[in-house]
Amino acid sequence: MIAPANPSSAHARSGGVPTFMIAAVACNGVIGRADGSLPWHAPADLRHFKLTTLNCVLVSGRVTAETLPDLASRDLVTISRSASHAEHGAQSPQEALHKAQQLARHNGRRAIAIIGGGQIYRAFLGQVDEAYISHINANAAGSATFPLEDHEALPWRKRAELGAFEAEVDGIQVEGRFEHLEA
Ligand SMILES: NC(=O)c1ccc[n+]([C@@H]2O[C@H](COP(=O)([O-])OP(=O)(O)OC[C@H]3O[C@@H](n4cnc5c(N)ncnc54)[C@H](OP(=O)(O)O)[C@@H]3O)[C@@H](O)[C@H]2O)c1
Repeated sequence: MIAPANPSSAHARSGGVPTFMIAAVACNGVIGRADGSLPWHAPADLRHFKLTTLNCVLVSGRVTAETLPDLASRDLVTISRSASHAEHGAQSPQEALHKAQQLARHNGRRAIAIIGGGQIYRAFLGQVDEAYISHINANAAGSATFPLEDHEALPWRKRAELGAFEAEVDGIQVEGRFEHLEA
């Protein structure tokens, strides 16, 4: 993981536990449909998500948490304004970050991963050390979006292009590319 550039960095704010965001985003900013499903079929991106978040504490909005598969070798903190039935629930992004830090220390997790959806990306934008963005090279139909304009306005440094992948959007094969950014 990346050393913080200065003591007021996101890394320092998150109690010394590195924090990153991970999202797959269409050209028009769409990340998901109203029913919670993804608007594309991209198995390589699902593998990328799994590998990138292994041994991390995941922080998720309640809607996204309801769609998640088995999360072996990871912990999950779910954000909801309602009292949560999840094992690790939080009623605000701040509380979620605090719980995620505690879990990371307690369980020896290497980082905190902000995994969406749209509301949660907005809450944490500008507060993470790194971002893994899977760009899907097509517009997609959906109601949940990533805050692309605000994200692009941040002073990210590109750390690496991590390769290309294939995705299917509305029955059409399109290219995707994995990007890794640091704050
Ligand atoms: N492409 C990707 O990389 C990716 C990643 C993740 C998700 N997604 C997609 O995104 C969609 C879901 O995104 P979404 O924006 O609709 O929902 P979301 O961000 O997953 O969850 C929203 C919920 O989180 C809780 N919440 C949000 N802000 C809060 C705050 N400040 N304090 C307390 N609780 C808060 C609320 O839960 P309550 O209603 O319980 O109060 C809210 O309804 C799905 O379609 C999913 O598939 C895509």
